[in-house]
Amino acid sequence: MLSNSLEDPSKRLDDKEVLHQMGTIILGGHETIAITSSWLLYELSRHPEHLERVLKEIEEVKKHKADGESFTWSDCDSMAFSNACIKASDDRHYSWEALRLYPVIVNKFRYADRNDIIPLSDPIISASGERLTKIPGRKWQRIGVNVSHYHRLQSVWGPDADTWNLERFINDSLKKETTLGIFANLLSFSNGLRACIGWRFALMEMQTILTEIVSAFEFSIDPKLDIFITAQGAAAPLVRGKEEEGIQMPLKVRPRQNS
Ligand code: HEM
Repeated sequence: MLSNSLEDPSKRLDDKEVLHQMGTIILGGHETIAITSSWLLYELSRHPEHLERVLKEIEEVKKHKADGESFTWSDCDSMAFSNACIKASDDRHYSWEALRLYPVIVNKFRYADRNDIIPLSDPIISASGERLTKIPGRKWQRIGVNVSHYHRLQSVWGPDADTWNLERFINDSLKKETTLGIFANLLSFSNGLRACIGWRFALMEMQTILTEIVSAFEFSIDPKLDIFITAQGAAAPLVRGKEEEGIQMPLKVRPRQNS
């Protein structure tokens, strides 16, 4: 709002436009991180051995810090295992599981600006039994891309594509031949002109959340609970049998001793 008020009056957004932009930023920049971070903490609660490794990395960085001194961006970047839970690591054997398994924006839609043919990397069988290796598209046809399906393709991510595995070996041929999305061969932040403008900020925010929260609190989840993903635009969590309670991630949280 401040920078808008400092703009040349002929270029300023009016109040209505500012409000609309705030809606976009709050929804696009807040809910996305909140939901992805919930899934991240959920998986770490189910994998205490991974939580332990994240904590060890945090402790390691803290050893070289004065009391109360904050973590820098490069401190966060040096935590390879923790980063693998969320984002890229230099170690190619690590993957980016929270963003891959739980892409918060599941579907993307675009309109074709011309008649075209979409080639398929894996052939599919049509309703009439025909084997298709490409799909024709008409000008102005609405094309839907399901991010989640791509993120769980076994041909790309391996036979255990449906599970949380921080040390999966990502198909090397994909890395060499395809660069998909703006980050880490994932479609979480989309691609092209309308890709997410906040993706770097999102990664920094999730690193900060992970570092701060994991050092201060212990997490667990009742293993009897069946948590599943809603298929309504945002990939948010619901508890089976308690769907009417709405989106929730019922983690048990308590202050970490000697934190
Ligand atoms: C985990 C976090 C995030 C995810 C998964 C995410 C995902 C996405 C995706 C998939 C799109 C494109 C939608 C499409 O192709 O139609 C998008 C657009 C956008 N994102 Fe994000 N986002 C995240 C965080 C953020 C943050 C932190 C901000 C702002 C600070 C932000 C601001 C935006 C805006 C303004 C757009 C619209 C860009 C445009 O249409 O030109 N996002 N985001």
